[in-house]
Amino acid sequence: MNSSAELGHLKSEILKLSKRYFDLNQANSEFVPGKTYIPVTAKSMDANDLSHLVDSSLDMWLTAGRYARNFEASFSKFFNRTTKSLLVNSGSSANLVAISALGSPELKKMDREPLQRGDEIITLAAGFPTTVNPIIQNGWVPVFIDSDLETINALPEKVYQAVSPKTKAVVLAHTLGNPFRSDLIAEFCKKNNLFLIEDCCDALGSTINGTPVGSFGEYATASFYPAHHITMGEGGAVVSKDARYKKIAESIRDWGRDCWCEPGVDNTCKKRFEWQLGDLPEGYDHKYIYSHIGYNLKVTDMQAALGVSQLEKLPQFIAARRANWKYLYEGIKQSPILSKNLIPVEPTPETNPSWFGFPLFTQSSIDRTTLVRKLEKSRIGTRLLFAGNLTKQPAYKYANYRIHGSLDNTNRIMNDLFWIGVHPLLNEAKMNYMLEKLESLVKELAK
Ligand SMILES: Cc1ncc(COP(=O)(O)O)c(C=O)c1O
Repeated sequence: MNSSAELGHLKSEILKLSKRYFDLNQANSEFVPGKTYIPVTAKSMDANDLSHLVDSSLDMWLTAGRYARNFEASFSKFFNRTTKSLLVNSGSSANLVAISALGSPELKKMDREPLQRGDEIITLAAGFPTTVNPIIQNGWVPVFIDSDLETINALPEKVYQAVSPKTKAVVLAHTLGNPFRSDLIAEFCKKNNLFLIEDCCDALGSTINGTPVGSFGEYATASFYPAHHITMGEGGAVVSKDARYKKIAESIRDWGRDCWCEPGVDNTCKKRFEWQLGDLPEGYDHKYIYSHIGYNLKVTDMQAALGVSQLEKLPQFIAARRANWKYLYEGIKQSPILSKNLIPVEPTPETNPSWFGFPLFTQSSIDRTTLVRKLEKSRIGTRLLFAGNLTKQPAYKYANYRIHGSLDNTNRIMNDLFWIGVHPLLNEAKMNYMLEKLESLVKELAK
């Protein structure tokens, strides 16, 4: 056997063995009600995922490579976009890149004004901190608005009312997979020359009148942390409206550089030593010219390899999440005691959510904190809606922000809402136990 034939043979043996290893190493998954913990989120992995991971490590390429190119080309299709997506090392980094891009001097070339210090961005007070933190980090001012209680999202009219002469953008997350009406808000933004960023970290696959969320603004962001619809361990992506927006985001992701060569490649522009930018001398190496204040937020090819394998399963993951949400919803609505004391969050009209979790409110008859403590004791995982009311968190005590109107609904979310899982590893036995336990605890606790 020549060495390349031997390498090919060895590789195929290693990949076959890794698949076998994965299958043998599967833990005994017998479910024992009250003993086996039911987490709110769980990564759904198979032998193919491990084989992709091993395949990429055998390359020893390590930085973004063939798998990253494959993923970046395929992922934007889920957002009805043709411009390649950009992989980053987390959903938080995706938000940092997309939001920072709104300050790019390059926007002037598209007749759009970059944001200046003190400019305002409308966002929600109830949500995840890293949807908001890049606004503060860039010296801009978050304007917090209240959520709608039925859908736990921003209502379009609340966004419109919060606009001031300083408002330059709207940055909102599709809360727990339930869409906000980004189609309507995008129209408003277009008319009023505002940027729109859709944080889709919890909403991969959600649609509005059949159109995917993330396809309405200048940028959409995704997270591939294990809790999310697909995982790379750590990871995220930025999806841009078009190539001009992508170029800005790519520069910010890649140290702020002006050059766009792939890792390990030189002179893609064919004039590496012929540029004159800023006040640099003519011919200064393009590799070291910086047009943005950037970072290094790239992924490794092992992360991307896992993403490629997971992406193939995304449609089935979305279907399972929707079916599990429906099972729990119907279970609650059909139980007189549950429907009297608990209020599930409703899907936003005209949308089809790809749920991240099953959010529900307790009525005043039930103390939320006592109920979640007892659920956890019964081995049922629970979560709150992330930071609750961001303005009440210690980190924001000295931050510069504005609140528009009251945050009464946000406070109700902070005090009375929790969520349980809908991930693809649930089954009827687990969900029946979740519903039975909810029923017995609500009976015990209802005043
Ligand atoms: C709405 C939202 N945005 C951003 C993030 C951050 O994603 P990551 O954990 O990948 O940084 C999360 C995390 O769960 C999230 O829920």
